[in-house]
Amino acid sequence: MKKKTKPQSKSPKLLRILVIHGPNLNLLGSREPDIYGKITLAQINQILKAEVSKLDVPVQLSFFQSNHEGELVDKIGQVRHNKYEGILINPAAYTHTSVVLRDALSACGIPAVEVHLSNIYSREEFRHHSLTAPACVGQVSGFREASYVLGLHGLINELQKRMQPRDVM
Ligand code: DQA
Repeated sequence: MKKKTKPQSKSPKLLRILVIHGPNLNLLGSREPDIYGKITLAQINQILKAEVSKLDVPVQLSFFQSNHEGELVDKIGQVRHNKYEGILINPAAYTHTSVVLRDALSACGIPAVEVHLSNIYSREEFRHHSLTAPACVGQVSGFREASYVLGLHGLINELQKRMQPRDVM
């Protein structure tokens, strides 16, 4: 007689996302509130945590802020080793200057989404160009803290797309 096998209910894979905040974002709350709002970095992280708790896919967020280019590069360089699936990053001023950060994002082997609180395209001309965005799957700019939430959803959507089995030709 054939043994009956129970249908396997496969639980969805845990998505581990690293949220990276670049230089001066530790000052949010008091830094140029007319541009960035009065929200603090801790509050942004809290909003993101609350957002993932509403999802029906399991997502675990880790947070990292640094004012130092090398520290950001080192952290990005370790993402595969530390088993992250995706990066949500606000490179802040390094967006406009850092070839090394762009190279780190290109080399890290997992998708990243770039976010900005302010609309960098409506500000000074030197902010109109992002060196890091071409190394990311997408960019959200100008919605204050909602940029992070929108970017997070974009990233999760991208990660889920990559987990789908490919169509067989
Ligand atoms: C920023 C925009 C950058 O031009 C600026 O240097 C920042 C913050 C933003 O979130 O709007 O530090 O990335």
